[in-house]
Amino acid sequence: MSESISRFCFGCEALGGTDWGEVSLDEIERCINIAIANGVNFFDTAAIYGLGLSEERLAAILGKRRSKMFIATKGGLVWSKSKNKRAKVWKDSSANSIRKGIIQSLKNLKLEYIPLFYIHWPDLETDFEETFYTLRDLQKEGLIKYIGCSNFSKEELIKVSQFCKIDFLQAPFNFLIDHPKELFSYCRNNAIKFVAYNVLSSGLLTGKYNEDYIFDSNDRRSRLYSFKRESILNSKRKLESLKFKAKKHNLSMTQYSIKYICDNENIFSTILGIKNVEQLKENIEVFKHCMMKEL
Ligand SMILES: NC(=O)c1ccc[n+]([C@@H]2O[C@H](COP(=O)([O-])OP(=O)(O)OC[C@H]3O[C@@H](n4cnc5c(N)ncnc54)[C@H](OP(=O)(O)O)[C@@H]3O)[C@@H](O)[C@H]2O)c1
Repeated sequence: MSESISRFCFGCEALGGTDWGEVSLDEIERCINIAIANGVNFFDTAAIYGLGLSEERLAAILGKRRSKMFIATKGGLVWSKSKNKRAKVWKDSSANSIRKGIIQSLKNLKLEYIPLFYIHWPDLETDFEETFYTLRDLQKEGLIKYIGCSNFSKEELIKVSQFCKIDFLQAPFNFLIDHPKELFSYCRNNAIKFVAYNVLSSGLLTGKYNEDYIFDSNDRRSRLYSFKRESILNSKRKLESLKFKAKKHNLSMTQYSIKYICDNENIFSTILGIKNVEQLKENIEVFKHCMMKEL
């Protein structure tokens, strides 16, 4: 039976409440409800987002609708947390860690199985064989449906594909990044669906931030290289060209940036982080004639 998945994937990192500056959970809930009313059924979260909170909050907002949604979560990052300190995070894709993480994600998401489970980042300390045979077992046991890799290179995908079928790759792709041609062709030839994140370069491509903007310390962009003065100045020419192209197509910079990615034939779905209803409405407009894609 074919499944229809939305080309707009709702990014739920901000729902975890950390690292994205000021976030209103009520506003994100409103955004999720409007997104669903407009055909969105694909949600992207991860165990690490808010240390489980993003998964729990997504489950609470979706309520009974959650079993009808295509929810993707990620694991293989673990943490230790002491009071009032930033969590210490490291990669652990060992069999025990993955199994334990998936069982916790199932509890957080209140699901019987996870529609799509990604390894968040390649863990080079653990044999890929151990990680991906474990995922294959978990799939056989019915706890996960599709298997994905996030932030894996083509060479890493080739290696892990010896152990189980990889269904999805999640990787950054936006107007500032060179087309990852080799990854695209590997994914195309091996029936791996490419899901793009960082489509707005975490907000930079909206045109509202410049090299003088200062982010709060609770916003990851205060640390990201792409928001450093030097990096923004280096991107100036491309940002000007984006502005020019957007104007020519009568679109905002944000809408043109989204269209540029989702019109690429290699892209299965486009993850977008959303903070408020105004942003949701502007972004979803791009998909109004072509929301769904067959899996
Ligand atoms: N696999 C991974 O390792 C990985 C890594 C990062 C993210 N992700 C996924 O991708 C999602 C999005 O994160 P991202 O870094 O890729 O961000 P993004 O989608 O490139 O940018 C999202 C941010 O841009 C701003 N924005 C969005 N629409 C806007 C509009 N119409 N007008 C003005 N501003 C707008 C908002 O932030 P402000 O309003 O605060 O500017 C929003 O939070 C995450 O939630 C997560 O699901 C995955």
